[in-house]
Amino acid sequence: CGIVGYIGYREAYPILIKGLQRLEYRGYDSAGVAVFDQGIKVYKKAGKVSDLENFVKDVTPKGSVGMGHTRWATHGAPSDRNSHPHSSGDRKLTIIHNGIIENYGNIKDTLLAKGHVFKSDTDTEVLIHLVEDIQKETGLDLLEAVRITLTKVIGAYAIVIMSADEPDSLIAARKGSPMVIGVGKGEYFIASDATPIIEYTKNVIYLNDNEIAHIRRDELLIKTTDNDVQTPYIHELDMKLEALEKGGYDHFMLKEIYEQARSIRDCLRGRIYPAQGKIQLGGLQEYKEKLKMVDRIIIVACGTSWHAGLVGEYLIEEYGRVPVEVEYASEFRYRNPIITHKDIVIAISQSGETADTMAALEIAKERGATIFGICNVVGASIPRITDAGAYTHAGPEIGVASTKAFTAQVTVLTLIAFYIAQQRGTISQSKLIEFLTELDSIPALVERTLQCNNRVEEIAARFKDSNNCLFLGRGSSFPVALEGALKLKEISYVHAEGYPAAEMKHGPIALIDADMPVIFIATKNSSYEKVVSNIQEVKARGGRVIAIVTEGDTEVRDMAEYVIEIPQTDDAFVPLLATIPLQFLSYHIALMRGCNVDQPRNLAKSVTVE
Ligand code: G6P
Repeated sequence: CGIVGYIGYREAYPILIKGLQRLEYRGYDSAGVAVFDQGIKVYKKAGKVSDLENFVKDVTPKGSVGMGHTRWATHGAPSDRNSHPHSSGDRKLTIIHNGIIENYGNIKDTLLAKGHVFKSDTDTEVLIHLVEDIQKETGLDLLEAVRITLTKVIGAYAIVIMSADEPDSLIAARKGSPMVIGVGKGEYFIASDATPIIEYTKNVIYLNDNEIAHIRRDELLIKTTDNDVQTPYIHELDMKLEALEKGGYDHFMLKEIYEQARSIRDCLRGRIYPAQGKIQLGGLQEYKEKLKMVDRIIIVACGTSWHAGLVGEYLIEEYGRVPVEVEYASEFRYRNPIITHKDIVIAISQSGETADTMAALEIAKERGATIFGICNVVGASIPRITDAGAYTHAGPEIGVASTKAFTAQVTVLTLIAFYIAQQRGTISQSKLIEFLTELDSIPALVERTLQCNNRVEEIAARFKDSNNCLFLGRGSSFPVALEGALKLKEISYVHAEGYPAAEMKHGPIALIDADMPVIFIATKNSSYEKVVSNIQEVKARGGRVIAIVTEGDTEVRDMAEYVIEIPQTDDAFVPLLATIPLQFLSYHIALMRGCNVDQPRNLAKSVTVE
């Protein structure tokens, strides 16, 4: 979910709506706003932010204090009734909430027994009734009542609360869900991430877990839930507004696919010195010795980031010769994992906020492991709890389906693999110079790969009506196949599976017929001949083959129905290029099937709930 808030001298409503549009990638089941306009006025609607705008257009609330919410449903189906904001029984208090209150059932029972009546099925409404109840029983002011409330709830939250009795203040608090406060002159902004704030101010405060902010136009007080006053630290944002706009592209996803030459270049900038065979990873500098001696690395991540982790496993084992395990963060956290102080646990997360990944890291930390982060969003929760890490520098990614963040994650993992190899002496200096020289040319090769777009569009037109699709690859192209399948299912709702090409014989081969497109990653590398045999197996069963091949390949061209060429590069860098045609393929198929590319149904970009 996404949260915005404003208090200052400007009209709040336009700021809230614009902020919600920027945050819509975090959830788009329903949206709502509350504005002080002679009392608290609440407007909310199931659907997108644009549906809310239409709903509100005749009344346009006036006032300079307000808050807004865009929701990704957890408790309660997406509906007008379950949309945020939610109000207390006497309607004096109003709340927006991102996260889950785990013990809401018990609290609700107690409140029901006291006569509270609830209008929605949400845990959020329970929370605001509890504040009301505490205030009524104790007569405490809002800040104190919220503080006491938060000591009673179990779960994750980022909340903003307004009270009709205190029209010149907002209360914000967080635990396990992100919250940023923008600091202006005589005004403050609140948001789940910095994107709604950037056009007004570059000065932000990242609220920490268990902190509550009492925000007035010219005063900000931050306390912990234990009642200790905190001194806020103001960070300066390094983000450009243009990065948040579509810049002439039809969709953010397309823009972000095209940005990859630049984003990979930004990711490499200042980190490789090919002529000297030097890799500079400032964040890991202090951990050189640890990386040299480490016996095992565990990577934890979700979704696309997990796929990047699988490519990382291949690279780190191949070049650094350290055993790597890649785990779904959601599984890792609940299975009493065996971790010791000798391990390094690396979390990969575009947003740096994914609840499961965060929890997995916390467990690793508790058990004494060294924890690293590979994140895209600067200042997010994961980079703030890790011992060290490397940012991907891909810039804001707005399309829900991850594209440039994935290739940037793979780029960072490639750097880490060679960095480890250098510390451990598992690569010769001359070989490293060769690799780094090739890596330096990858942005230019990505630029060339991007030229396949028209070709991929033609292929998409031929296969757009297929309801199933298989993606096959070997070695580090296996995770690329998984990622290709995930992209297609995420945005075009076509059932797709990624498989190791050889493993296909043990199941998926039964599915192959003339209606099943099979996409092979068949570039010229060490497993090329093996993949060629797998293509023949599919052909022999009447399957329709689309192959991603190395420029100039003739053998596969003769076998496949369609080929897409990518430039020749070393095995180590194939994932960075081979992913691109698959991104275009899912983009075009989704578009041709009439799907919402940037905001696919049921998904959210940043999953800050378990
Ligand atoms: C969600 C997004 C995916 C993303 C995953 C992990 O499911 O829709 O695109 O890969 O979360 O997110 P993270 O921010 O941790 O990389």
